Amino acid sequence: MIDTRALTDMTYGLFIVGAREGEKFNAMIANSVFQVTAEPPKIAIALNKNSLTHDYIKATGLFCVQAIAQEADMLFIGNFGFRTGKNYDKFAKVSYKLSAQGLPVVLDNTLSWMSVKVGQTIDLGTHTLFIGLVEDTEIIKEGKPLTYDYYQCVLRGKTPRGATTFKENKEK
Ligand SMILES: Cc1cc2nc3c(=O)[nH]c(=O)nc-3n(C[C@H](O)[C@H](O)[C@H](O)COP(=O)(O)O)c2cc1C
Repeated sequence: MIDTRALTDMTYGLFIVGAREGEKFNAMIANSVFQVTAEPPKIAIALNKNSLTHDYIKATGLFCVQAIAQEADMLFIGNFGFRTGKNYDKFAKVSYKLSAQGLPVVLDNTLSWMSVKVGQTIDLGTHTLFIGLVEDTEIIKEGKPLTYDYYQCVLRGKTPRGATTFKENKEK
């Protein structure tokens, strides 16, 4: 028997994951982002196969991860986490720059960025696990990173269908 409370006891941070394909670029919110080795530093991310960012990473083998600052509001998170870049320009109202590799770096409400080169890709069914080597990093500003717990308990944020931790609410 699975009591899903055991899964909701797990803690996470919240991140922006960015990617590009040719001249196009996109980014999304993800909580399933974690460091898996120290030497060399490697990062793993689990992305839903329906997301545009997923497709860009599959195409180029590159992605960018940014820790979100705690002062980020729901408008900012909604822009990247509840809309898809397939039919909407997420960068129209935020300040950003492009890294040397052309990856989008969001400058509003983020603490840092790192670019990652994918070394392994694992098919998880609904999601793909991308594991890669950190190649470049930059600190944008000092601050507290936004945690998933703060997002849920203080900002009262929800988790969209497609996220790794999505739970169907069957209560009436
Ligand atoms: C709090 C939060 C956490 C999320 N975590 C993940 C995640 O770990 N993996 C994932 O694939 N999607 C996650 N999502 C959902 C994506 O951000 C969302 O599907 C987004 O619209 C995809 O955008 P895209 O199609 O432009 O790439 C999360 C969203 C929110 C708001």
